[in-house]
Amino acid sequence: MRVLGIETSCDETGVAIYDTEQGLLADTLYSQVEMHAQYGGVVPELASRDHIKRLIPLIRQVLEQADTSVEQIEAIAYTAGPGLIGALMVGAATARAIALTWDVPAIAVHHMEGHLLAPMLESNPPSFPFVALLVSGGHTQLVEVKAIGEYQLLGESLDDAAGEAFDKAAKMLGLDYPGGPVIAKLAERGDKTRFRFPRPMVDRPGMDMSFSGLKTFTLNTVNKFKSTDSLDVQTQADIAAAFEEAVVDTLAIKCKRALQHTQFKQLIIAGGVSANSRLREKLQQMVVTQKASLFYARAEFCTDNGAMIAFAGAQRLVAGQSNDLTIMARPRWPMSELEPL
Ligand code: KG4
Ligand code: ZN
Repeated sequence: MRVLGIETSCDETGVAIYDTEQGLLADTLYSQVEMHAQYGGVVPELASRDHIKRLIPLIRQVLEQADTSVEQIEAIAYTAGPGLIGALMVGAATARAIALTWDVPAIAVHHMEGHLLAPMLESNPPSFPFVALLVSGGHTQLVEVKAIGEYQLLGESLDDAAGEAFDKAAKMLGLDYPGGPVIAKLAERGDKTRFRFPRPMVDRPGMDMSFSGLKTFTLNTVNKFKSTDSLDVQTQADIAAAFEEAVVDTLAIKCKRALQHTQFKQLIIAGGVSANSRLREKLQQMVVTQKASLFYARAEFCTDNGAMIAFAGAQRLVAGQSNDLTIMARPRWPMSELEPL
């Protein structure tokens, strides 16, 4: 089955074509990052308007790239949530209208299920069951995954998502949006031992997390230097490195608990923060001690993209699932509401 996937939940317009026999045929992305950077974060109304502008040209482009005619598309998968309502509406309405015109089924895909299945687009994919650490700009969750749609939440952030913490810490340091990749780059030049940031909630049992305290710690550290006008580049890099190390350490401790709790031997990481090399390195060291393996997608499939939506949609479509003519857009949509295959 050949599926066109559409992702517009936030600030990236992603379109891809996935074929269940031949694999990923084409994948395009337009990132709005530059447009939002001048405001220091995503401006929802601007995001929606830009998706309108980009979506149809990207669909044309991806069809051409995949050497695929309209008649060869057998279904359409679109992100229905969670995300920004206006941005979701653009993708959902476009996808639903095109599906009606082309007379093919459409399926509403959960954005986080898309992220969760993205490592399966790689060679040597994980197999069920596994533990998934979902770390994006809006979510930080540890999930026990028995099969597609069989998700049990093991723990989650009680306040800020890990990506959000990266973005806010970057802002405090006067760095660009999105902060994750910028902090990661700066941290490479930093000394992670100069400052010792707390590892929140690691002394408490369970797999819940909290990142808002790290934010306050960052602010206080930055302000100490700002007040004496001594926040030089090296200090910025040292703070970035200490912050990153604290986030990564905390995530690694919670992931280890999740592996021990489930007795599963596979850990997958997905979502924007899973592109972080220090996180990958730390988790790789940790899984070895648990005789487990670590899986993640290539960096461009960690952040938002159309390929993961085409892939996740295709898995449900081949199992016979699809949605009616309703244009489905759900800003909030708990993963626990998803049906098994
Ligand atoms: O999954 P994603 O593209 O969008 C959401 O669904 O939220 O994740 C975006 C988040 C942002 O907070 C961004 O700062 C973070 O992922 N991110 C990173 C890295 N690349 C992106 N955080 C840490 N290190 C990175 N290399
Ligand atoms: Zn995402």
